[in-house]
Amino acid sequence: MVPSEDAAPQLDVDQILADPGVRIVVCCGAGGVGKTTTAAALALRAAEQHGRRTVVLTIDPARRLAQSLGLTELDNTPRQVKGIDVESSGGELHAMMLDMKRTFDDVVLQHTDPAKAAEIFANPFYQAMSSTFAGTQEYMAMEKLGQLHARGEWDLIVVDTPPSRSALDFLDAPARLSRFLDGRMLRLLLAPARSGGRSMFSLVTASFGMFSKVVQKVLGAQLLTDLSGFVAALDSMFGGFRQRAEQTYRILQARETAFVLVAAPEPDAVREAAYFAGRLREEKMPLAGLVLNRVHRPVVPELDAERSQAAAERLSELGGHEGAADVLRAHAALARQAVREQQVAARFTEAFPAVPAVSVTAQPADVHDVDGLRTIGAAISRA
Ligand SMILES: Nc1ncnc2c1ncn2[C@@H]1O[C@H](COP(=O)(O)OP(=O)(O)OP(=O)(O)O)[C@@H](O)[C@H]1O
Ligand SMILES: [Mg+2]
Repeated sequence: MVPSEDAAPQLDVDQILADPGVRIVVCCGAGGVGKTTTAAALALRAAEQHGRRTVVLTIDPARRLAQSLGLTELDNTPRQVKGIDVESSGGELHAMMLDMKRTFDDVVLQHTDPAKAAEIFANPFYQAMSSTFAGTQEYMAMEKLGQLHARGEWDLIVVDTPPSRSALDFLDAPARLSRFLDGRMLRLLLAPARSGGRSMFSLVTASFGMFSKVVQKVLGAQLLTDLSGFVAALDSMFGGFRQRAEQTYRILQARETAFVLVAAPEPDAVREAAYFAGRLREEKMPLAGLVLNRVHRPVVPELDAERSQAAAERLSELGGHEGAADVLRAHAALARQAVREQQVAARFTEAFPAVPAVSVTAQPADVHDVDGLRTIGAAISRA
């Protein structure tokens, strides 16, 4: 028999999207589970069904999805999505794709004078870090969220998170980046730079062991000199970075935020989701629920895998019913997969029995247009 639907309480996404007290929805989860799709679908639903002036911050959306939202280039500014059904609700949907480098540049410009900014921009270390440093995308997603929130123009900001291997990267990025910018090794580097750069080289050599791993990972040791210049230039901004990250962190802990955890019904994704849920609990960040995405549901759930398989074998023995036997075998395979998926999902529910959950069926094709997003939104809402 197919086990009954998860024992977890049902996630009521409409209640969240309709609640004027909820201003930020963050979609997070392991790589490739459907975060971007869920974020776009929730944002569309908030606008169409709940009349909210919504902005969705997407990160690396698939090209076709971006196009269907009217996003043709990375321009770092929300654009209103046309052609959606908001006549009766009065809502609006705006969408943007995160431009990590531009966001970093804007932060620099805001914190320093134009001459110093130009110096930073020209530094090869900055150029590499602003476009490739591990964690920069996560950090800049937070930064952008902070900016959108500060503008106060939106009823609801829906945030997609970067395609990290680990969902935790998003939460760890600000601390990691400020540790990096603010860390002991960089202060060591900075000291001689402040006093005229005299003992730069010996200090670099002396402390090489400590930071070489990080630096080499990014660029290679030959750019240490650029690094010291970069650090000196960024020195005045350390406080700014830290302060902003802390501010955004506080927003993420506030009642106006709802984290929606997305997972595929696969062991790795569910394990990742459980780690993340644990971490949110530690950080006192509000987890609204789990979206179990791309689950498989047999068309006739009453017919279990064993009976279906047995019937297929029987028909094959009788002969002349191969078509029906194939259908029964396919059904048996799907029913077995559904059971496996529910067992995997149950691991999350056992660990977090109070976290509401909802399952979204795997669609026959990728979700890349507004209709597809609407279908996903309805599935998440069980509407
Ligand atoms: N319920 C679903 N049914 C069918 N296809 C889906 C479903 N949800 C998502 N997809 C498809 O799966 C792919 C991955 O989804 P998506 O890009 O939303 O994942 P992601 O978590 O944002 O990935 P990344 O970690 O790479 O950013 C996309 O092609 C999307 O159209
Ligand atoms: Mg994505």
